[in-house]
Amino acid sequence: MATTPIFNASCSFPSTRGIDCKSFIGLRSTVSKVSVASSRIATSQRRNLVIRASESGNGHAKKLGMSDAECEAAVASGNVPEAPPVPPKPAAPAGTPIVQPLNLNRRPRRNRASPVTRAAFQETDISPANFVYPLFIHEGEEDTPIGAMPGCYRLGWRHGLVEEVAKARAVGVNSIVLFPKVPEALKNPTGDEAYNDNGLVPRTIRLLKDKYPDLVIYTDVALDPYSSDGHDGIVREDGIIMNDETVHQLCKQAVSQARAGADVVSPSDMMDGRVGAIRAALDAEGFQNVSIMSYTAKYASSFYGPFREALDSNPRFGDKKTYQMNPANYREALIEAREDEAEGADILLVKPGLPYLDIIRLLRDKSPLPIAAYQVSGEYSMIKAGGVLKMIDEEKVMMESLMCLRRAGADIILTYFALQAATCLCGEKR
Ligand code: PBG
Repeated sequence: MATTPIFNASCSFPSTRGIDCKSFIGLRSTVSKVSVASSRIATSQRRNLVIRASESGNGHAKKLGMSDAECEAAVASGNVPEAPPVPPKPAAPAGTPIVQPLNLNRRPRRNRASPVTRAAFQETDISPANFVYPLFIHEGEEDTPIGAMPGCYRLGWRHGLVEEVAKARAVGVNSIVLFPKVPEALKNPTGDEAYNDNGLVPRTIRLLKDKYPDLVIYTDVALDPYSSDGHDGIVREDGIIMNDETVHQLCKQAVSQARAGADVVSPSDMMDGRVGAIRAALDAEGFQNVSIMSYTAKYASSFYGPFREALDSNPRFGDKKTYQMNPANYREALIEAREDEAEGADILLVKPGLPYLDIIRLLRDKSPLPIAAYQVSGEYSMIKAGGVLKMIDEEKVMMESLMCLRRAGADIILTYFALQAATCLCGEKR
């Protein structure tokens, strides 16, 4: 695995400030324990550093012969000890033009001259703590591969899912978001399965919380996986997506997820007023501590194609343009952000990710709230496909795309690469 130094970091450290885990003695053994609480990580980190410091010297000056005064006297009397000569100037290839050096005050390349300086001046970090891992679940026992998303599966909620979560935790990814594939027989026009307390998502949350109490579970709040129309809201006879009636259903869905133990409910439906309504519904049921991550700027994007295949949730007719945003719009994201802030959102999300870096930066600059970016299915599949066809280096493009989302201003990134990228950051091969 050829990782560049800027991405090659130990997951035992909270950031990637050019830290190369291999240069720290004893760190490898802590890698498998990354899933423990951060306080314990900090303790093991300190211990490693202490061990290293104490190994590097035993506290008092070594006796090698002459005293300091004798050494100084020798130099002062002209008896200077030898040091290696400055190496000769490296030769340029034959034919290189002889020129006068440009008269430049500033040569930005000086700060990029070595891996050490590049690491020292790196402005953006990325760590497994920044990732939220989206996972597809179904009722089946087996894990079914998703054709349009190589490496992704519909995981059996009782087995495959639990194993995948364990793998993610082992490399420091302790946040997941769940997307259910709902049996066709349970779908209806009003998406009522969405708030069945014994439905696939609530059952899964209960199982995961039982096994991993400190796992942070995000849920998707929207009707599309449960709707026989494949839309995020209730569809009227004339094709209109009904706003307020849908919000009523979403509130019941969010409360049902909170009741099962969800930490963060994430409305991805783009109905107006749903954040405030969900906040009120959660509070009324005593879920003051459940957060809301609002899909604030969710665009009507063709990059969601593979996801809809994964969940078999393609709209049965029409498109989602009356609720999701027009990809041509920038200022409109501010209207959504203001509403979501005022209604009590805890995190603002931009989706898709890489084609919408300007929107991420906009919200980062205009809002004090944490910003999430969703690197969606189509972005993932393009990188995978390019890698399989050997057109690009999959791993490097993966890490670069994630770093760019961070640079644009995302605090957290929802990415199907979470496990692969965190594994890479830990310096381990999958
Ligand atoms: C639906 C939802 C979608 C995604 C997340 N939640 C699809 C859609 O809006 O049609 C897409 C995620 C992806 O493409 O990775 N509420």
